[in-house]
Amino acid sequence: MLRLQDNLGRTFPYLRLSITDLCNFRCNYCLPDGCEEHHHKQSLTVDEIRRLISAFARLGVEKVRITGGEPTLRHEFNDIVSTIKQIPGIQTVAMTTNGYRMDERIESWLKAGVDAINVSIDSLDARGFQTITGHDRLQEVLNGIKRGFQLGMPGFKVNAVLMRGHNADQLPDFLNWIKDQPITLRFIELMQTGDNQDFFNQQHLAGNTVREQLLNSGWVRVVRHKSAGPAQEYYHPDYRGRIGLITPYSPDFCDDCNRLRVSSLGKLQLCLFGDQGYDLRDLLQSDQQQPELINRIRNFIQLKQDKHFLEDGFTGGTATLAQIGG
Ligand code: 5AD
Ligand code: SF4
Repeated sequence: MLRLQDNLGRTFPYLRLSITDLCNFRCNYCLPDGCEEHHHKQSLTVDEIRRLISAFARLGVEKVRITGGEPTLRHEFNDIVSTIKQIPGIQTVAMTTNGYRMDERIESWLKAGVDAINVSIDSLDARGFQTITGHDRLQEVLNGIKRGFQLGMPGFKVNAVLMRGHNADQLPDFLNWIKDQPITLRFIELMQTGDNQDFFNQQHLAGNTVREQLLNSGWVRVVRHKSAGPAQEYYHPDYRGRIGLITPYSPDFCDDCNRLRVSSLGKLQLCLFGDQGYDLRDLLQSDQQQPELINRIRNFIQLKQDKHFLEDGFTGGTATLAQIGG
Protein backbone atom coordinates (compact mmCIF):
# COMPACT_ATOMS: atom_id res chain seq x y z
CA MET A 1 0.00 0.00 0.00
CA LEU A 2 1.07 3.56 -0.69
CA ARG A 3 1.02 5.15 2.73
CA LEU A 4 0.68 8.89 2.87
CA GLN A 5 3.80 10.61 4.09
CA ASP A 6 4.82 14.24 3.90
CA ASN A 7 8.23 15.82 3.39
CA LEU A 8 8.92 15.74 7.12
CA GLY A 9 8.17 12.02 7.42
CA ARG A 10 4.82 12.56 9.15
CA THR A 11 2.24 9.87 8.34
CA PHE A 12 -1.54 10.21 8.39
CA PRO A 13 -3.57 7.34 9.81
CA TYR A 14 -6.34 9.73 10.81
CA LEU A 15 -8.67 11.96 8.83
CA ARG A 16 -11.18 14.51 10.06
CA LEU A 17 -14.14 15.00 7.79
CA SER A 18 -16.60 17.84 8.16
CA ILE A 19 -19.98 16.85 6.73
CA THR A 20 -21.70 20.22 7.17
CA ASP A 21 -20.71 23.69 8.29
CA LEU A 22 -24.21 24.27 9.61
CA CYS A 23 -24.52 24.50 13.38
CA ASN A 24 -27.49 25.11 15.65
CA PHE A 25 -25.43 26.39 18.61
CA ARG A 26 -23.99 29.87 18.89
CA CYS A 27 -20.83 29.36 20.89
CA ASN A 28 -19.43 32.73 21.81
CA TYR A 29 -15.94 31.88 20.53
CA CYS A 30 -17.15 30.37 17.28
CA LEU A 31 -20.54 31.47 15.91
CA PRO A 32 -21.90 34.12 18.29
CA ASP A 33 -24.45 35.20 15.69
CA GLY A 34 -25.41 31.72 14.55
CA CYS A 35 -24.30 30.37 11.25
CA GLU A 36 -26.53 31.52 8.39
CA GLU A 37 -23.75 33.52 6.88
CA HIS A 38 -21.36 30.59 6.71
CA HIS A 39 -23.89 28.04 5.61
CA HIS A 40 -23.08 26.30 2.35
CA LYS A 41 -25.75 23.98 1.00
CA GLN A 42 -23.64 21.84 -1.26
CA SER A 43 -22.11 19.53 1.36
CA LEU A 44 -20.57 16.32 0.04
CA THR A 45 -23.17 13.65 -0.73
CA VAL A 46 -23.04 10.18 0.79
CA ASP A 47 -21.62 8.78 -2.48
CA GLU A 48 -18.94 11.47 -2.64
CA ILE A 49 -18.03 10.74 0.97
CA ARG A 50 -17.76 7.01 0.22
CA ARG A 51 -15.38 7.67 -2.68
CA LEU A 52 -13.33 10.13 -0.67
CA ILE A 53 -12.86 7.86 2.33
CA SER A 54 -12.21 4.81 0.14
CA ALA A 55 -9.28 6.65 -1.45
CA PHE A 56 -7.88 7.74 1.92
CA ALA A 57 -8.30 4.21 3.28
CA ARG A 58 -6.13 2.95 0.40
CA LEU A 59 -3.55 5.50 1.49
CA GLY A 60 -3.44 4.17 5.05
CA VAL A 61 -6.16 6.13 6.85
CA GLU A 62 -7.66 3.87 9.54
CA LYS A 63 -9.64 6.31 11.60
CA VAL A 64 -12.16 8.92 10.51
CA ARG A 65 -13.60 11.59 12.77
CA ILE A 66 -16.87 13.07 11.55
CA THR A 67 -17.23 16.74 12.48
CA GLY A 68 -19.22 19.80 11.45
CA GLY A 69 -20.47 22.42 12.21
CA GLU A 70 -22.75 20.03 14.01
CA PRO A 71 -22.55 16.78 12.02
CA THR A 72 -25.78 15.32 13.39
CA LEU A 73 -27.76 18.06 11.66
CA ARG A 74 -27.28 16.10 8.43
CA HIS A 75 -30.40 13.96 7.95
CA GLU A 76 -28.21 11.22 6.50
CA PHE A 77 -25.89 11.23 9.52
CA ASN A 78 -26.40 7.57 10.45
CA ASP A 79 -26.12 6.54 6.82
CA ILE A 80 -22.82 8.43 6.51
CA VAL A 81 -21.48 6.68 9.61
CA SER A 82 -22.37 3.20 8.39
CA THR A 83 -21.08 3.93 4.88
CA ILE A 84 -17.69 5.00 6.25
CA LYS A 85 -17.59 2.15 8.73
CA GLN A 86 -18.01 -0.44 5.95
CA ILE A 87 -15.07 0.79 3.90
CA PRO A 88 -12.25 -1.78 3.99
CA GLY A 89 -9.35 -0.52 6.09
CA ILE A 90 -11.42 1.84 8.26
CA GLN A 91 -11.23 0.57 11.82
CA THR A 92 -12.59 3.46 13.84
CA VAL A 93 -15.32 6.00 13.25
CA ALA A 94 -15.37 8.82 15.76
CA MET A 95 -17.57 11.90 15.91
CA THR A 96 -17.47 15.34 17.46
CA THR A 97 -20.81 16.80 18.53
CA ASN A 98 -22.24 19.61 20.59
CA GLY A 99 -24.49 16.99 22.22
CA TYR A 100 -27.75 18.31 20.79
CA ARG A 101 -30.42 15.61 21.42
CA MET A 102 -27.64 13.18 22.25
CA ASP A 103 -29.81 11.62 24.94
CA GLU A 104 -32.40 10.58 22.34
CA ARG A 105 -30.08 9.82 19.48
CA ILE A 106 -26.94 8.24 20.83
CA GLU A 107 -28.34 4.75 20.57
CA SER A 108 -28.86 5.12 16.82
CA TRP A 109 -25.36 6.60 16.41
CA LEU A 110 -23.81 3.62 18.13
CA LYS A 111 -25.92 1.21 16.08
CA ALA A 112 -24.76 2.91 12.89
CA GLY A 113 -21.17 2.22 13.93
CA VAL A 114 -19.81 5.15 15.93
CA ASP A 115 -16.88 3.98 18.10
CA ALA A 116 -15.96 7.16 19.95
CA ILE A 117 -17.61 10.47 20.77
CA ASN A 118 -16.14 13.86 21.61
CA VAL A 119 -18.65 16.28 23.03
CA SER A 120 -18.24 19.96 23.88
CA ILE A 121 -19.08 21.12 27.39
CA ASP A 122 -17.53 24.48 28.15
CA SER A 123 -19.20 24.89 31.53
CA LEU A 124 -20.87 22.56 34.03
CA ASP A 125 -22.99 25.40 35.28
CA ALA A 126 -26.34 25.40 33.45
CA ARG A 127 -26.47 29.19 33.21
CA GLY A 128 -22.85 29.45 32.17
CA PHE A 129 -23.42 26.79 29.52
CA GLN A 130 -26.33 28.77 28.17
CA THR A 131 -24.36 32.01 28.13
CA ILE A 132 -21.56 30.35 26.15
CA THR A 133 -23.61 28.29 23.66
CA GLY A 134 -26.90 30.18 23.45
CA HIS A 135 -28.76 27.02 24.54
CA ASP A 136 -30.10 25.86 27.86
CA ARG A 137 -29.13 22.27 27.13
CA LEU A 138 -26.47 21.28 29.63
CA GLN A 139 -28.72 18.66 31.22
CA GLU A 140 -29.58 17.17 27.84
CA VAL A 141 -25.88 16.77 27.02
CA LEU A 142 -25.13 15.26 30.44
CA ASN A 143 -28.05 12.86 29.99
CA GLY A 144 -26.60 11.87 26.64
CA ILE A 145 -23.33 10.92 28.29
CA LYS A 146 -25.16 8.94 30.95
CA ARG A 147 -27.13 7.12 28.27
CA GLY A 148 -23.90 6.34 26.41
CA PHE A 149 -22.45 4.71 29.51
CA GLN A 150 -25.65 2.68 29.97
CA LEU A 151 -25.30 1.50 26.39
CA GLY A 152 -21.75 0.31 27.02
CA MET A 153 -19.58 3.18 25.79
CA PRO A 154 -16.20 2.73 27.46
CA GLY A 155 -15.58 6.46 27.79
CA PHE A 156 -16.09 9.93 26.39
CA LYS A 157 -13.86 12.79 25.49
CA VAL A 158 -15.23 16.15 26.51
CA ASN A 159 -13.83 19.39 25.10
CA ALA A 160 -13.89 22.64 27.03
CA VAL A 161 -12.49 25.80 25.50
CA LEU A 162 -10.61 27.66 28.22
CA MET A 163 -11.90 31.21 28.68
CA ARG A 164 -10.74 33.77 31.20
CA GLY A 165 -14.20 35.11 32.03
CA HIS A 166 -16.35 31.98 31.55
CA ASN A 167 -14.80 28.85 32.98
CA ALA A 168 -11.21 29.49 34.09
CA ASP A 169 -12.38 29.46 37.72
CA GLN A 170 -14.33 26.19 37.36
CA LEU A 171 -11.47 23.70 37.41
CA PRO A 172 -12.56 22.24 40.78
CA ASP A 173 -16.08 21.53 39.43
CA PHE A 174 -14.69 19.89 36.32
CA LEU A 175 -12.28 17.75 38.35
CA ASN A 176 -14.99 16.69 40.72
CA TRP A 177 -17.16 15.68 37.78
CA ILE A 178 -14.59 13.24 36.37
CA LYS A 179 -13.65 11.75 39.72
CA ASP A 180 -15.74 8.62 39.18
CA GLN A 181 -16.37 8.70 35.44
CA PRO A 182 -14.16 7.49 32.57
CA ILE A 183 -14.15 10.87 30.87
CA THR A 184 -11.12 12.55 29.36
CA LEU A 185 -11.75 16.24 29.78
CA ARG A 186 -9.66 18.28 27.41
CA PHE A 187 -9.09 21.96 27.96
CA ILE A 188 -8.47 23.64 24.64
CA GLU A 189 -6.71 26.97 24.53
CA LEU A 190 -8.90 29.48 22.74
CA MET A 191 -7.63 29.94 19.20
CA GLN A 192 -7.79 33.12 17.26
CA THR A 193 -9.80 32.84 14.05
CA GLY A 194 -10.70 35.42 11.44
CA ASP A 195 -14.00 36.24 13.17
CA ASN A 196 -13.18 36.28 16.88
CA GLN A 197 -10.28 38.69 17.34
CA ASP A 198 -11.76 40.95 20.05
CA PHE A 199 -13.18 38.00 21.92
CA PHE A 200 -9.82 36.27 21.68
CA ASN A 201 -8.01 39.26 23.15
CA GLN A 202 -10.42 39.39 26.10
CA GLN A 203 -10.71 35.68 26.83
CA HIS A 204 -7.53 33.85 25.82
CA LEU A 205 -5.74 32.19 28.68
CA ALA A 206 -2.63 30.06 28.36
CA GLY A 207 -3.05 26.35 29.15
CA ASN A 208 -0.06 26.62 31.53
CA THR A 209 -2.33 28.10 34.16
CA VAL A 210 -4.28 24.82 34.25
CA ARG A 211 -1.11 22.73 34.06
CA GLU A 212 0.29 24.38 37.18
CA GLN A 213 -2.89 23.78 39.15
CA LEU A 214 -2.90 20.12 38.06
CA LEU A 215 0.74 19.50 38.91
CA ASN A 216 0.26 21.18 42.29
CA SER A 217 -2.57 18.86 43.17
CA GLY A 218 -0.99 15.53 42.31
CA TRP A 219 -1.79 15.08 38.62
CA VAL A 220 0.92 13.37 36.58
CA ARG A 221 1.72 13.68 32.89
CA VAL A 222 0.96 10.54 30.85
CA VAL A 223 3.60 9.50 28.35
CA ARG A 224 2.14 9.92 24.87
CA HIS A 225 1.99 7.43 22.07
CA LYS A 226 3.04 8.55 18.68
CA SER A 227 -0.52 8.59 17.35
CA ALA A 228 -1.98 10.22 20.43
CA GLY A 229 -2.92 13.53 18.85
CA PRO A 230 -2.13 16.97 20.15
CA ALA A 231 -3.46 16.68 23.73
CA GLN A 232 -1.03 16.29 26.63
CA GLU A 233 -2.75 14.00 29.10
CA TYR A 234 -2.63 13.92 32.89
CA TYR A 235 -3.88 11.30 35.32
CA HIS A 236 -4.40 11.13 39.05
CA PRO A 237 -4.62 7.91 41.07
CA ASP A 238 -7.79 9.10 42.84
CA TYR A 239 -9.66 9.91 39.63
CA ARG A 240 -11.21 7.67 36.98
CA GLY A 241 -11.17 10.46 34.43
CA ARG A 242 -8.20 12.12 32.82
CA ILE A 243 -7.38 15.68 31.89
CA GLY A 244 -5.99 16.72 28.52
CA LEU A 245 -4.46 20.04 27.59
CA ILE A 246 -4.46 21.26 24.03
CA THR A 247 -2.12 24.22 23.73
CA PRO A 248 -1.84 25.32 20.11
CA TYR A 249 0.31 28.28 21.09
CA SER A 250 3.10 26.19 22.56
CA PRO A 251 6.17 26.04 20.31
CA ASP A 252 6.31 22.27 19.70
CA PHE A 253 2.57 21.84 19.12
CA CYS A 254 2.88 21.06 15.41
CA ASP A 255 5.94 18.80 15.55
CA ASP A 256 4.22 15.51 14.99
CA CYS A 257 0.97 16.80 13.66
CA ASN A 258 -0.90 13.96 12.00
CA ARG A 259 -3.96 16.02 11.22
CA LEU A 260 -5.61 16.06 7.86
CA ARG A 261 -8.99 17.58 7.30
CA VAL A 262 -11.50 17.58 4.51
CA SER A 263 -14.15 20.30 4.53
CA SER A 264 -17.83 19.69 3.89
CA LEU A 265 -17.26 20.99 0.35
CA GLY A 266 -14.54 18.46 -0.34
CA LYS A 267 -11.45 20.59 0.12
CA LEU A 268 -8.37 19.03 1.66
CA GLN A 269 -7.14 21.22 4.50
CA LEU A 270 -3.55 20.60 5.51
CA CYS A 271 -3.66 22.81 8.59
CA LEU A 272 -6.52 24.36 10.57
CA PHE A 273 -4.88 27.67 9.94
CA GLY A 274 -3.69 27.05 6.43
CA ASP A 275 -4.47 29.48 3.72
CA GLN A 276 -6.97 27.65 1.61
CA GLY A 277 -8.15 24.15 0.79
CA TYR A 278 -7.14 21.97 -2.10
CA ASP A 279 -10.18 20.85 -4.01
CA LEU A 280 -10.89 17.14 -4.38
CA ARG A 281 -14.55 17.25 -5.29
CA ASP A 282 -14.22 17.05 -9.06
CA LEU A 283 -12.58 13.64 -8.54
CA LEU A 284 -15.39 12.31 -6.34
CA GLN A 285 -17.90 11.96 -9.16
CA SER A 286 -17.33 8.31 -10.12
CA ASP A 287 -15.60 5.26 -8.72
CA GLN A 288 -13.39 5.15 -11.81
CA GLN A 289 -11.62 8.34 -10.73
CA GLN A 290 -9.98 6.71 -7.73
CA PRO A 291 -6.44 6.39 -9.15
CA GLU A 292 -6.44 10.05 -10.13
CA LEU A 293 -7.86 11.05 -6.74
CA ILE A 294 -5.16 9.08 -4.92
CA ASN A 295 -2.50 10.77 -6.98
CA ARG A 296 -3.85 14.22 -6.30
CA ILE A 297 -4.03 13.58 -2.55
CA ARG A 298 -0.42 12.34 -2.53
CA ASN A 299 0.74 15.45 -4.35
CA PHE A 300 -1.17 17.83 -2.10
CA ILE A 301 0.26 16.26 1.06
CA GLN A 302 3.71 17.42 0.04
CA LEU A 303 2.48 20.99 0.55
CA LYS A 304 1.85 20.51 4.28
CA GLN A 305 3.84 23.12 6.18
CA ASP A 306 5.92 22.29 9.22
CA LYS A 307 3.83 24.49 11.53
CA HIS A 308 1.10 27.07 11.82
CA PHE A 309 1.84 30.78 12.22
CA LEU A 310 -0.84 31.52 14.78
CA GLU A 311 1.57 33.13 17.21
CA ASP A 312 2.06 35.85 14.60
CA GLY A 313 -1.71 36.40 14.57
CA PHE A 314 -1.92 34.71 11.17
CA THR A 315 -5.17 32.77 11.10
CA GLY A 316 -5.10 31.77 7.45
CA GLY A 317 -8.43 31.33 5.70
CA THR A 318 -10.21 30.17 8.85
CA ALA A 319 -13.04 32.56 9.74
CA THR A 320 -14.55 30.16 12.31
CA LEU A 321 -13.79 26.59 13.23
CA ALA A 322 -17.37 25.66 12.29
CA GLN A 323 -16.13 25.72 8.72
CA ILE A 324 -13.85 22.76 9.25
CA GLY A 325 -14.83 21.29 12.56
CA GLY A 326 -11.93 22.19 14.86
N1 5AD B 1 -10.68 27.88 19.83
C1 5AD B 1 -10.59 26.67 20.42
N2 5AD B 1 -11.47 25.67 20.23
C2 5AD B 1 -12.49 25.91 19.40
N3 5AD B 1 -13.51 25.11 19.01
C3 5AD B 1 -14.26 25.80 18.14
N4 5AD B 1 -13.77 27.05 17.94
C4 5AD B 1 -12.66 27.13 18.74
C5 5AD B 1 -11.69 28.16 18.97
N5 5AD B 1 -11.75 29.35 18.39
C6 5AD B 1 -13.71 23.76 19.51
C7 5AD B 1 -15.09 23.49 20.03
C8 5AD B 1 -15.24 22.00 19.89
C9 5AD B 1 -14.25 21.64 18.82
C10 5AD B 1 -14.91 21.05 17.65
O1 5AD B 1 -13.57 22.83 18.47
O2 5AD B 1 -15.27 23.81 21.36
O3 5AD B 1 -14.97 21.32 21.08
FE1 SF4 C 1 -21.36 24.97 16.78
FE2 SF4 C 1 -19.16 23.72 17.57
FE3 SF4 C 1 -19.02 26.28 16.74
FE4 SF4 C 1 -20.24 25.67 19.07
S1 SF4 C 1 -18.05 25.39 18.55
S2 SF4 C 1 -21.01 27.06 17.48
S3 SF4 C 1 -21.16 23.73 18.65
S4 SF4 C 1 -19.54 24.52 15.48
